[in-house]
Amino acid sequence: MSRYLVKDKVAIVTGSSQGIGKAIAIALCAKGAKVVLNSRSLEPLQKTEAELKSMGFEVLAVQGDVSIYEDCERLVNETVSAFGQIDILINNAAISSEGSIQDTSPEVFEKMFRVNLMGVINPTKAALSYIKKTKGSIVFTGSISGFMGLPNYSAYSSSKMALTSLVQALKLELVGTGVHVGLNYVGFTENEEHKTFITAEGNLEAVPVRKQFAKMSREKVANHFVKGIEKRKYKQTLTLLGKILKLVQQYFPAIFERVLILVYKRQQKNNIMPEK
Ligand SMILES: NC(=O)c1ccc[n+]([C@@H]2O[C@H](COP(=O)([O-])OP(=O)(O)OC[C@H]3O[C@@H](n4cnc5c(N)ncnc54)[C@H](OP(=O)(O)O)[C@@H]3O)[C@@H](O)[C@H]2O)c1
Repeated sequence: MSRYLVKDKVAIVTGSSQGIGKAIAIALCAKGAKVVLNSRSLEPLQKTEAELKSMGFEVLAVQGDVSIYEDCERLVNETVSAFGQIDILINNAAISSEGSIQDTSPEVFEKMFRVNLMGVINPTKAALSYIKKTKGSIVFTGSISGFMGLPNYSAYSSSKMALTSLVQALKLELVGTGVHVGLNYVGFTENEEHKTFITAEGNLEAVPVRKQFAKMSREKVANHFVKGIEKRKYKQTLTLLGKILKLVQQYFPAIFERVLILVYKRQQKNNIMPEK
């Protein structure tokens, strides 16, 4: 099968003012795509837009919250007004949380599902008719946390696990349309220093800095996304640790559970926020 060319394609990357989304936007631009950047906060979004423009890239920033359907319609309409079409949608925006089911407030669960689930459904629904016209790509940012329900991460891991069934359904619904659907299970990645998570009580806190061990750079993650689009890959698991965890979870679920219990007990004992 010949490679799908990203050059001159129009891409929307949700949640791209920083982090993995920004790295994906840069990687797509470097291949010659025109990229629409998005996030809720305006200032960092405009800063990223200016940075990418100064690199000579064709980008447009559209502020908006992916959990609100009207914002996603506006994101799509402004993209089409500026560039005439949509070829690629990267559903990347998401938030993280921490806390057991007992401790986590219903409002936090609701927010997690609104952003991490409705926040991929809304842009997909809003952009789908345009992507069908171009026979483009819709790619989702999954997580190795979505292989299995994780203690202390129930809201995040269940929101990421639900992506698998959404993507499976979408892929089957789009058979024969020429649209590529992809899901990338991202493993431990270098975090932005500004990355935050929601506590069980609903407060925003900074994610602790990760140790170097087993982390992938954001640039490498982004290159996997671009290669996945070029080769029209369905599912990819990133990082060696991610691949190992997937195999252990699949073939030795009891061992996987034991490890999760040990980690959870250690967290409870030390009352620490684990790395994500
Ligand atoms: N970092 C990791 O190790 C890791 C591992 C596995 C999977 N992932 C996944 O990778 C993706 C990116 O993670 P990251 O680490 O790059 O996160 P990040 O640094 O926190 O960046 C998240 C981006 O999404 C935006 N965003 C959040 N909520 C939004 C909303 N409702 N509407 C629009 N934009 C929104 C943020 O900007 P605003 O806050 O201004 O909106 C920001 O631009 C997520 O799907 C995450 O679950 C990350």
